[in-house]
Amino acid sequence: MKIKNICCIGAGYVGGPTMAVIAQKCPEINVTVVDINDKRIAAWNDDNVDNIPIYEPGLSRVVEEARGRNLFFSTDVEKAIDQADMIFISVNTPTKTYGIGKGMAADLKFIELCARQIARVATTDKIVVEKSTLPVRTAEALRNILDNTGNGVKYQILSNPEFLAEGTAVDDLMNPDRVLIGGDIDTTEGAEAVEALVDVYAHWIDRERILTTNVWSSELSKLTANAFLAQRVSSINSLSELCEKTGADVNEVAKAVGMDSRIGPKFLQSSVGFGGSCFQKDLLNLVYIAKSYGLNEVADYWEQVIIMNDHQKKRFAANIVKTLFNTVSGKKIGVLGWAFKKDTNDTRESAAIYVVDYLLNEQADVVVYDPKVNAEQVYADLDHLNTRSEAENRARVTVVNSAMDVTKDAHAVAVLTEWDEFKSLDWSLIYDDMLKPAFLFDGRRLLNRAEKEKIGFEFYAIGS
Ligand SMILES: NC(=O)c1ccc[n+]([C@@H]2O[C@H](COP(=O)([O-])OP(=O)(O)OC[C@H]3O[C@@H](n4cnc5c(N)ncnc54)[C@H](O)[C@@H]3O)[C@@H](O)[C@H]2O)c1
Repeated sequence: MKIKNICCIGAGYVGGPTMAVIAQKCPEINVTVVDINDKRIAAWNDDNVDNIPIYEPGLSRVVEEARGRNLFFSTDVEKAIDQADMIFISVNTPTKTYGIGKGMAADLKFIELCARQIARVATTDKIVVEKSTLPVRTAEALRNILDNTGNGVKYQILSNPEFLAEGTAVDDLMNPDRVLIGGDIDTTEGAEAVEALVDVYAHWIDRERILTTNVWSSELSKLTANAFLAQRVSSINSLSELCEKTGADVNEVAKAVGMDSRIGPKFLQSSVGFGGSCFQKDLLNLVYIAKSYGLNEVADYWEQVIIMNDHQKKRFAANIVKTLFNTVSGKKIGVLGWAFKKDTNDTRESAAIYVVDYLLNEQADVVVYDPKVNAEQVYADLDHLNTRSEAENRARVTVVNSAMDVTKDAHAVAVLTEWDEFKSLDWSLIYDDMLKPAFLFDGRRLLNRAEKEKIGFEFYAIGS
């Protein structure tokens, strides 16, 4: 079975970059990415390729090469579904905010809507690929919806979770550690569908790195991978607090521990806490699934990873208040960085949102700068928390276009995203511009303590 037309439902951080790379690497396959958000689709189609809606290093060049050739962005979801042999579902699967499982379970309403739309529109057999991160056994629900339409169309359902990390999405897609494809491998039709997707990836990835499993293993592996990654962050962050009390330095500890080949050096960077759209959502989902099977010890084990992360954000903010003589009321606090990590404009679940919310509760005046995040997004993130009125968020928070505007007359500056440009700021000038004592809080272990203390800063860094 050779795939000629791919449709991807959802033009977000996963659908957009993933399909751009497939289109670039498979010029003979037509790839159409569809979304109900017409503003997003218009941005993907912007004449100036640097205006595409997602910032990822290298992405605009990939889009530039393939767009209009075999990569298309459209709001005509039904047409793209009808024409495709293979349909990726790449829509968002946020944590439920209502009803049973509120605050824990994944909200699968967008997935279900896609399945119902496919069932309504399809006139030819389709391979449906779960690209979104889903609870284990979601494919069963999809199959139920798709197989009960009675129009004679046959479906194969595959699970192909995406492991890319934002900020390095293009590199991760070009050269993945592995590609995981789950399918109904015990049937001929299922094995053929798996093979068809393997063929797509085999255009640029060695077959040894393309794993095929049953659907449930594939679905659960993605949740497990994110749980393990988040757990490492919370593990090192838990020790950062102990380091601060004991005189140990968390970076030195991480280095010593990470040189053990059984542990490895990656993902041992202590910080103000993990963010992003996935880790917390997927952990909560894992906890919910474990609880729903009555596995309370399993659920508690993974829940602690989130508890630790919340604690880390809170204690960082609380330390700012404590250090500034127990009050930040009416004080200007400069915030460098709003994105959840460097090299992305994604702010979902960013630690910065929660740290600033805490400081606003303490009546601070906050000034924010992020190289890739605009004021509209900063206010939207704060409004979304519903902690105070939208008017108050705008009165207390100012968003500026340069790091130097953040630091002018500030009582304290906090580095909350590890953007490279913050390392090379003119920190002597910043010191001169700030009120004294000039407090500097490094939530990312980005800055050199000795240099900053020599300039005159009162310097605090996580884990030292
Ligand atoms: N962001 C990441 O780094 C990442 C990495 C791996 C996996 N994932 C998973 O991939 C999935 C998508 O994540 P994302 O970050 O791309 O989300 P996103 O919010 O950036 O994009 C999802 C898009 O789907 C669209 N959409 C929703 N319902 C639709 C419908 N019925 N028809 C057409 N379009 C619809 C939305 O408008 C949105 O643009 C999630 O399950 C996530 O957990 C994300």
